[in-house]
Amino acid sequence: MLSNKDYWIKRYQEMKGFNVVGHRSWTYEEYIKETQKFFKHIDKHIPTEFKKDKDNKEDRFVLDFGCGIGRCIPFLSQYFGNYIGVDIVDEVIIRNRKRFRKIEDDCKLEFYTIRHDGVIPVKRKFDLIFSNVVLQHVVDDGLLRFYVHQFRTLIKNNGKVLLIENIDQKPKKHQGVKKYIKFRSFNQYKDLFEPYFKLKLVDKFVSSKEEHGVMIGEL
Ligand SMILES: C[S@@+](CC[C@H](N)C(=O)[O-])C[C@H]1O[C@@H](n2cnc3c(N)ncnc32)[C@H](O)[C@@H]1O
Repeated sequence: MLSNKDYWIKRYQEMKGFNVVGHRSWTYEEYIKETQKFFKHIDKHIPTEFKKDKDNKEDRFVLDFGCGIGRCIPFLSQYFGNYIGVDIVDEVIIRNRKRFRKIEDDCKLEFYTIRHDGVIPVKRKFDLIFSNVVLQHVVDDGLLRFYVHQFRTLIKNNGKVLLIENIDQKPKKHQGVKKYIKFRSFNQYKDLFEPYFKLKLVDKFVSSKEEHGVMIGEL
C-alpha cells in the first residue's frame, strides 16, 4: 500500500494534472468549464474586506494549501497581491515554479513543498488561508490537527480560513480509494478546528454529483 504522499506522486505521474485536481473523467474543456463555474460560485464567499481596494492588494497575502497545479491562481490573484502555494508533491511545486511567471497580473507567486514531517515551510502571516478539496485527503486526524495548529500561527489576527471539502456522508461508489480519502462531516471539521478557529458552514453545492461544503474559519 502506497503512503499518502506516494499515492499523489503517482497520480501526478500517471494522469494529466487537470484530471488529478479535478475529476478523472473530465476532458480539458470540461475542466475549464467546471473551474469557471467553481470560481463563480466561490466568489461570493471571499470576505468583502479582501474585495475592497482591489488596487491596494499588494499588502494582502493568501496561502493556497494543497495548491496542486495552481488552478486557483487566476481567481485568488484578483484579490491578493501575494500568493503562496504549498503542496506535498515536490514535482508539482517545481513544475509550478517553471510554469508560472513570478508575477501574474500584479500578484507575486511563490511555491513550497510541505516537509515530510508535515511542517509548512513558510514564516509569514496570511490574510486568507484557502484550501480546496485537500483536507479530505489528509486521512490522518493527527496530521490534520497539526496543520490546523500551523494555520493558527500563520494567520493574521483578523485573517480567515476558507475551506471547500466534500462533506457528503452517503456511501460512495469509489470507496475503494478510502485509504486516501476521508469523507468527514461538517461537525467533524468543526471539532478538528475548534481549538483555534470558529468554523461555520456557509454554503453547500454539488460538484461531480457530490455535496461540497464551503466553510469559513475565524479566530
Ligand atoms: C484534488 S487536489 C486539489 C488541488 C487544488 N487545491 C485545486 O483545487 O486544484 C488535492 C491536492 O492535495 C494534495 N495533498 C494530498 N495529501 C496532502 C497532504 N497530506 N497535505 C497537503 N496536501 C496534500 C495533493 O498533492 C493534491 O495536489
